Amino acid sequence: MAQTLSKPRLKQKYRKIKITPRFCYFRSENLENQSDFATEISYSLTRKNKFIHPKFFYDEKGSKLFEEICVLQEYYLTRTELEILRSIKLEMANHLSGDYALIELGSGSATKTRTLLEILTRKQKSVEYYPIDISEILKETSENLQRDYDNLNIMGIIDQYEIGLKFIKKLSIQNQLIVFLGSSLGNFNLEENMKFLKKIRALMKENDLFLLGLDLVKDTKILEKAYNDSKGVTSKFNLNLLKRINDELAANFDLDKFEHVSLFNNEEKRIEMYLRSKEKHEVLISAINLALKLEKDELIHTEYSYKYTVSGIKDMAEKAGLKPVKIWRDKDNYFALVLFSIKN
Ligand code: TRP
Repeated sequence: MAQTLSKPRLKQKYRKIKITPRFCYFRSENLENQSDFATEISYSLTRKNKFIHPKFFYDEKGSKLFEEICVLQEYYLTRTELEILRSIKLEMANHLSGDYALIELGSGSATKTRTLLEILTRKQKSVEYYPIDISEILKETSENLQRDYDNLNIMGIIDQYEIGLKFIKKLSIQNQLIVFLGSSLGNFNLEENMKFLKKIRALMKENDLFLLGLDLVKDTKILEKAYNDSKGVTSKFNLNLLKRINDELAANFDLDKFEHVSLFNNEEKRIEMYLRSKEKHEVLISAINLALKLEKDELIHTEYSYKYTVSGIKDMAEKAGLKPVKIWRDKDNYFALVLFSIKN
């Protein structure tokens, strides 16, 4: 399906907001007005195969719902990744010789990040942490973190990953530990996966490390349940996209006329998520002057979540110029954490 990363905005004004002496963040002034959202939605909902870019999941409500997803029994990803992180603390510490700055893509509530911050704040006199997240949740999370760790300095970037990486590149930080957890790489399509890994590779210097968390291929039932939980939180999360369009772009989506769909595509090795229109109807999105026609059973694509194999990860890494230093997995082989460098 034609889902592309949106073009990074180049001519953009950024504001630096200082919250405490040890925590500041950058955000684009443009984030406050809705022009990006409007432009992207008017494009993506008028394609033959309608879609909504998954970065729009994470408004305030969506970010809260995602936190709820992460602690669901069926959603094994977060707790499994956390369990691996906790079990490798000593080993990780041994891979870090000298001081490292921590750069995190999609930091969210930073629960898993704390395991890494504990290593770094104990080993080092001070630690620089650069969280990048599209969600405003970054503010609250960072305030808590700098309160909990006395020797932690935080410079956050509230924006898309690519923009955050551009910032990071400009700073030319010495000894970077870049982390991308939660199998979020799998939310891009395969071509974008490669582009993204290459971008990270281009940012890395000799001693830098990259820690990537990826969900592994497993039994279809387990996979599908993780994206269609019995409490209906994932369904709410998915439908919240339509609510967001209602609220921010003056639309009249009737959420009862849509249904959350998630299925595992075994050929493509990915979970696919959609919103299905239960009946033929029309929706008005006033802010963009769009009368949207939907057929019965028509699907709006909202997300992919690719699942990986260890050999697939190795192939992908090699193509991107990244060298796996270590691959850790949990006892059930549900999830993998991979540490990369650029050295042989
Ligand atoms: N990176 C997460 C994943 O692929 C994102 C995610 C989890 C998600 N559950 C979701 C995205 C439900 C949309 C809907 O697992």
